[in-house]
Amino acid sequence: MSNLKEKILNKTATLGVCGLGYVGLPLAVEKAKAGFKVVGFDVQEAKVNMVNAGHNYIGDVVNEDLAAIVASGNLCATTDFASVASCDCVCIAVPTPLDKHQEPDISYVKASTESIAPYLHKDMLVVLESTTYPGTTEELLKPILEEKSGLKCGEDFYLAFSPERVDPGNLIYKTKNTPKVVGGCTPACTDIAATMYEAVLEAPVHRVSSPAIAEMEKILENTYRNINIGLVNEIARLCNKMGISVWEVIDAAKSKPYGFQAFYPGPGLGGHCIPLDPYYLTWKAREYGFHTTLIENSMIINDSQPDYCVDRAMHILNRHKKAINGAKILVLGVAYKNDIDDYRESPAIRVVEKLLEVGADVTYYDPWVASFMEGELSMTGEKALTPELIESVDLVMVTAAHSNVDYALVQKHAKAIFDTKNVMKRIDNRDNIEVL
Ligand SMILES: NC(=O)c1ccc[n+]([C@@H]2O[C@H](COP(=O)([O-])OP(=O)(O)OC[C@H]3O[C@@H](n4cnc5c(N)ncnc54)[C@H](O)[C@@H]3O)[C@@H](O)[C@H]2O)c1
Repeated sequence: MSNLKEKILNKTATLGVCGLGYVGLPLAVEKAKAGFKVVGFDVQEAKVNMVNAGHNYIGDVVNEDLAAIVASGNLCATTDFASVASCDCVCIAVPTPLDKHQEPDISYVKASTESIAPYLHKDMLVVLESTTYPGTTEELLKPILEEKSGLKCGEDFYLAFSPERVDPGNLIYKTKNTPKVVGGCTPACTDIAATMYEAVLEAPVHRVSSPAIAEMEKILENTYRNINIGLVNEIARLCNKMGISVWEVIDAAKSKPYGFQAFYPGPGLGGHCIPLDPYYLTWKAREYGFHTTLIENSMIINDSQPDYCVDRAMHILNRHKKAINGAKILVLGVAYKNDIDDYRESPAIRVVEKLLEVGADVTYYDPWVASFMEGELSMTGEKALTPELIESVDLVMVTAAHSNVDYALVQKHAKAIFDTKNVMKRIDNRDNIEVL
């Protein structure tokens, strides 16, 4: 048995996590809770200081858990990558966004690998968890790690890809109980990485034959969602023209016990995964002279959904003899999904931008997001959802299905409501409600 495997099995291995965000911090906490010594790495000093003070900043992490493991000395954080030398394993969970041309921005993955490489040592394991195009681990990470360390992958150190599947706000599936997929550069790399996750998680680990399989399966998962949401968004537009409720159609289709999974329309796609990941694949596919036409068509539909919502809002206001230019609009919810504080790539913010472009006077209320800054746009939300606020606007647009909003109050006081999430479906009096 390798030295590292033994250290993992008897929990004397020190585990590093690079990138202490939505993915990395819960992972670091689980590793420490499983009894390992954990070192967290981040370039943001503020996050490192918060972790070291035991102060939580991620919704999926339990405050008391973080405070307890930091106090016990099992988790510490640093900006100094020299501490990689003391780690037996480092998992990389840094951002993989798109650049301004909607192409993969792999610079964070590259920079973090370059920071780790000088401290890579024999018998060490590196696992990439960031969502990325198939080929990243072997084409990008492996050469950087080998060149900078003089060590050979599969002989001197282990390298694998294991996609993160965290679903922020999901109350059932968390980092600890979500099955993991692991693909290493060699069978030994797969085995060591799988052993490490098995020692940390209470979920099965599915081994695959290469990092590229694991990278591709993650993109397949997210593209599957992207395409199915694109499909219902398209059906929703058609249903609207035909005077049919798409929500009733989906509810009916859902009654089939097999072969159909319900997806729902909305103002577009949000978050750091579903709207971005397919672009990683379409970009990589072009290297092979291949066009991912189905995926690209779905992205065209989803990306134009905020425009469609603004168009519908304009028609609602028109029926009230009100121009959208100058209309007062209250946007309800700017987080990208219900009951979380993350607004990255939020379609609701795209809606706000587009409403401002056509001259609307926009305010927002979101119990989870007090203020936001996205590109050029920064806004502070209304502090409370009062009858006076609701009565003061021409239209309320519901763009996130938060469960801690009093929708009955909204219905009672609003002149007109455009509910893009069908969150008001249980409200009987529907005279002022229009649904996507
Ligand atoms: N958030 C999700 O729901 C989710 C789910 C599954 C997969 N993912 C994937 O996981 C990856 C991370 O996403 P996230 O949501 O945790 O991002 P995040 O922005 O919340 O966290 C990333 C962290 O990495 C740090 N960082 C950036 N460059 C660094 C460097 N060179 N060295 C060390 N740290 C660095 C940042 O400061 C930040 O704290 C992405 O590839 C994403 O697609 C995210």
